[in-house]
Formats: sequence, structure tokens, C-alpha cells
Amino acid sequence: MRMPQLSQSDSISIADKARQARSVTHETLTSTERQSLRQQSGELLAHEDAVLVAHYYVDSELQELAEETGGCVADSLEMARFGLTHPASTVVVAGVRFMGETAKILSPEKQVLVVEPQAECSLDLGCPSAAFSAFCDQHPERTIVVYANTSAEVKARADWVVTSSIAVDLVADLAAKGEKMIWAPDRYLGDYVKRQTGADLLLWGGSCIVHEEFKAEVLLNLKHQHPEAKVLVHPESPASVIELADIVGSTSQLILAAQELDSSFFIVATEEGILHKMRQSTPGKTFVAAPTAGEGATCVSCAHCPWMKMNDLQRLIAVLKAKDTQVHIDEAIRVRAAVPIQRMVAYGQQRG
Ligand code: 13P
Ligand code: SF4
Repeated sequence: MRMPQLSQSDSISIADKARQARSVTHETLTSTERQSLRQQSGELLAHEDAVLVAHYYVDSELQELAEETGGCVADSLEMARFGLTHPASTVVVAGVRFMGETAKILSPEKQVLVVEPQAECSLDLGCPSAAFSAFCDQHPERTIVVYANTSAEVKARADWVVTSSIAVDLVADLAAKGEKMIWAPDRYLGDYVKRQTGADLLLWGGSCIVHEEFKAEVLLNLKHQHPEAKVLVHPESPASVIELADIVGSTSQLILAAQELDSSFFIVATEEGILHKMRQSTPGKTFVAAPTAGEGATCVSCAHCPWMKMNDLQRLIAVLKAKDTQVHIDEAIRVRAAVPIQRMVAYGQQRG
């Protein structure tokens, strides 16, 4: 059984959307202007009874603001949990669209705002719900496991939602019960989970435009230049890059590894926004982004997610004032999507 591949026109439109996102320019601000925007954001969050939930890949100022104002900066599983349990009546999500949708699905009574509604994700874009649903219909005997980086409609079709922090464990548990599965949308993460667990997974053909650009050969050269280095890799990366890793894990797991491993030099194969938290939580250690292009080639993503980088302080202030980026989800879809997401949250809690 061949995995469904994205058509050439789908791939081109994802690349076009990524290029459009990348072309968004941010104003150059002085440090006094930045400080004033940060103060204004903090005051607005308090005034609106709002909490800021940010992903590790967004701009470092948004990460710091989230922490300073009682919100959180986290991986996608923890972002979902935090919005659910926090008492604020408004949750503001700095990340990409699926993260806002997940918050709304879990907390329908809350107002959920996204800092940037145009911030998408190539995995979500690469898994349109109608095509995915038709694929599932062809394999009714299989349990449907989807990654959190998907639309509400795709989640509504799933039995389980997972993030990279629990994917291997959950799939191993399901396989031990004799279940065969469909996995979507990331083929690299799916391939990694399959190799780790030996599970029978039928893979969708999506990919992350950032992680798929890390290159094993150049990473190996960098490792040779720094023999003491430890390599931290997010499992959305190609198998050849994962093979060179000392640790493979979700964003939070990589941050923890940077704190715990006995090395002072790290090469990090994931979106470069994470380096801020790594440097902040382990001062004195050196972190460099893994290479994304071969010798002499021009880097395309350069370890930057163009959609995560659309989030900024000015957008946050505008959104808190206008409240025009509320997440709305059809109630029937929301109710169905809540089931596999709640399973994911309960599974994550059970594992601690
Ligand atoms: P995490 O679940 O590890 O935070 O990853 C989310 C993501 O978008 C990775 O590219
Ligand atoms: Fe999606 Fe990749 Fe960006 Fe994560 S880094 S949000 S997987 S495009």
C-alpha cells in the first residue's frame, strides 16, 4: 500500500503560502519602543482578563511576555493543557492556527483569540479534510491517529490526537492491543514512530517545510568540527538526520535534554525560536541551529517557520484591542474533535 502523496499543485500552493508568510515584514523598533509595546501588551492582557499562551518557536519577546504575565511558553501538548485549566476568560494563542483551534475545542466557553489568523502550518495545509476522510473510509478497520498539527475537521475524523511528546508511547500501547493504524499527516514523524514501535501504520504523505530541510551530510561535517557536541533532533526531521541524534524529542523534551546532558555544545535540529529558551534555561552552554542546506547551497527555511514568525507584539496589541481574530468552530465538528483531543490530554496527564 503506497502512502498518499500530495499532488504537485498542492505542494506548490503550500510553498506559495510559506513564501507569502515569509514576505511579511516587521517594523524595526528601538529598544525603548519595544519596551513600551511590551508594557502596553501586559496592561491590555490584564485589562481584558486574558492569558497569553505561546509556542517555543515564536519571537523571544512574545515568549518572555507570556511568562512575565502569568501565561506560558510551551510545546503544543502543554499549550493545550494550560489554556484548559487557566481561569482567564480569554486565551490568546501565539503560534499557528491549529493551536488556537485546539484551545477553542477544549474551552468553548472561553473567548480564544489568535495573534495571527494567517499563521498556518504545512502539515495542516497538506492534509485537507475531504481527502483525508476519503482515505480513512478506504481503511475502516484501522484506528485513526492524527498529529495535533491538523485542522479541527481532520481531528473530528480521528480516534486519537497526539503530539510528538507522546506519539511513540501511545502508538506502542495501541499496537500492543493489536490495533492497526492510519497515521497523519507527517510522514517523517510517522516513519520514526513506526521504526520505534514496529506498529502497523499507514502513513499520510505530509511534511513540515522547516524540519524536512535539515541535511544529514552537513550536520555530520558540523559534528566532526565539534566532536564534543550533542545533537538534539525533533522527529519531524528526515530519518538520516534523526540517525545522527543523541536525543530525539518534542520541543519540551529537547529543552530538558539540553539542561540534563553533560555537554556544553549542542546542535539543534528544530525551529530556531527554541534556542531562546535553551539559552535562557542553561546559561553558559552553546546552542547552534543544525544546517539546512548542503555545501554552497542557499538555505530556504533556515530553520525559521515563516508562520510562527508572523506573530509579534504589534499584532498582539491590535488583536487585544479589536478582538477580531476570535476562533470559531462549527459546534458539531468541535464536539467530535474534542473527544480525541481530550483522550490525548488524559493520556499525557496519566504519563505525568
Ligand atoms: P511540539 O509539539 O514539539 O511543540 O511541536 C510542534 C510543532 O509545530 C513542531 O514543528
Ligand atoms: Fe508547522 Fe513546521 Fe511550522 Fe511546526 S515548524 S508549525 S510543523 S510548518
